[in-house]
Amino acid sequence: MVTGRILVTGATGHLGRRVAHELVQSGQTVRVLTRQRPAHPDARYEWAEGNYISGDGLAQAFEGVDEVLHLAHDPQHPERDLTGVARLHSFGLAAGIRHFTQVGIVGAAQVPGFPYYAAKAQAEELLLKSGLHASIFQATQFHSFVYPLLAKLERLPLLLVPTGLLQPVDIGEVAAALSRHVLKRQPITERFAGPEVLTIAELAEQMLAAKHQHKPVVSIGLPLAAFQAVRKGVLTAPQMARGQRTFAEWLRLKA
Ligand SMILES: NC(=O)c1ccc[n+]([C@@H]2O[C@H](COP(=O)([O-])OP(=O)(O)OC[C@H]3O[C@@H](n4cnc5c(N)ncnc54)[C@H](OP(=O)(O)O)[C@@H]3O)[C@@H](O)[C@H]2O)c1
Repeated sequence: MVTGRILVTGATGHLGRRVAHELVQSGQTVRVLTRQRPAHPDARYEWAEGNYISGDGLAQAFEGVDEVLHLAHDPQHPERDLTGVARLHSFGLAAGIRHFTQVGIVGAAQVPGFPYYAAKAQAEELLLKSGLHASIFQATQFHSFVYPLLAKLERLPLLLVPTGLLQPVDIGEVAAALSRHVLKRQPITERFAGPEVLTIAELAEQMLAAKHQHKPVVSIGLPLAAFQAVRKGVLTAPQMARGQRTFAEWLRLKA
């Protein structure tokens, strides 16, 4: 098997720490890019302090690197995120890396008026034009991302949710698939979606059932273009339902 040193941005995050683990288990050398090295860094990884948006520390972080997996993100500042993505591409080209993988969101390009998703889609365009040997791995919303959004709405006597379709996926399954994707080192776009397409109302009902709560769930059709797109199912990929763990099962395991 080909091995090498993979610089993983976002390897301290929810998805990244799972992927870093998978890659090390597969015999790869993983260098973690983080803005602040932890007090007790995991000795299975090399650690590089740096910031992909400001560029601080990137020269050292890229030394001796064969590949990059970029999954860090800055959801609060999408325009800065794009600057950072372009910066990583430049460093990758200068370092002559053999493969650059970027993580995206299924359907992000089709959700208008949502700067974070627009930036994710533009970042993919930048990558495809960068001249790097590149690949893209898109996932649907993680169960662990959907749950707190729904739980926030729970405080009211009834649950008002936007009309829409989602296909949430287990983050551990995404991490395993993303690691396999990276190791293929092929210039492809791959999508990974959860096992079921459900309405947001159905997901809310499953959450309430798991908590033994009884409240009416009411769907409202928000007139914003972004929600109209979500209603049409642009965030889903039924033909790519490759995840096994349903939201209901994830809720059971979480309890
Ligand atoms: N959440 C979902 O449902 C979902 C669905 C599909 C795809 N995705 C994608 O999956 C990826 C990971 O998401 P996540 O929720 O797992 O991430 P997360 O937990 O929010 O972690 C964010 C990561 O980004 C790093 N980071 C942020 N700003 C940085 C900077 N300026 N320089 C260097 N590192 C920086 C953080 O590292 P330090 O704090 O250590 O510096 C951290 O490791 C994202 O690209 C996201 O778009 C998410």
